[in-house]
Amino acid sequence: MVTAYDYTTAKIIDASGVNSILVGDSLGNVMLGYNNTLSVTMEDMIHHGKAVARAVNNTLLVIDLPFMSYQASVYDAVINSGRLVKEANANAVKLEGGAEVCPQIEAIVNASIPVMAHLGLTPQSINAFGGYKTQGRSEEQAKKLIENAKTVQQAGAFSLVLECVPAKLAKHITEMLSIPTIGIGAGRHCDGQVLVGQDMLGMYSDFSPKFVKKYANLDDVINEALTNFCKEVQEGVFPSDEHEYGISDEILERIY
Ligand code: KIV
Repeated sequence: MVTAYDYTTAKIIDASGVNSILVGDSLGNVMLGYNNTLSVTMEDMIHHGKAVARAVNNTLLVIDLPFMSYQASVYDAVINSGRLVKEANANAVKLEGGAEVCPQIEAIVNASIPVMAHLGLTPQSINAFGGYKTQGRSEEQAKKLIENAKTVQQAGAFSLVLECVPAKLAKHITEMLSIPTIGIGAGRHCDGQVLVGQDMLGMYSDFSPKFVKKYANLDDVINEALTNFCKEVQEGVFPSDEHEYGISDEILERIY
């Protein structure tokens, strides 16, 4: 699974063999330049979700429910999940949290909308955590994570993202559950892996967590292309004959 937020990138990912595209609320960071995901709105998710959906033919499209679109009530959760399906063509929605959001998971699933759960470092709870920290390292936290994983499965989630969780704990949870786990900073034993597209392609340098592997350095590639463009424009090399549109000399003579 890889995140995407726009038509062009989603089209490339959709053709790549990746199984699923996530329109994550990480768009707050990598698309909109916020320093967390808390300001992301339903309108942001629908706007970017719609663009991605137009490119998707082969992949499962999951769209995040943003902060405060589901926490306050089951009603909000169902209505906003419905909007992501009806307006942005989501195949499934993702929400963050454990036991406290299980009534929401049950109600969304009862409305025939598949739900992906998300535990561990859940960025929408950044103020409660007091920062971006690995979750589940203490006995108390690990026990809570295991209980929450069982609970979201029981509530009807079809899969579970585990973010920033010790690899051995993620392995235990993966073996314990019947639904697939998708790891991000949760080690190799999860059933699948997810990365933010901009991180793995080397396009976002504001912050790079330890779990990110850069499969490309697109910022260098883009930088080089832009430098060459400026140079060629300044030197009169671009545009050349092949990039110009013609007009007949006869017409030109008549208008001069
Ligand atoms: O918003 C997002 O991109 C996510 C992934 C990091 C799993 O939730």
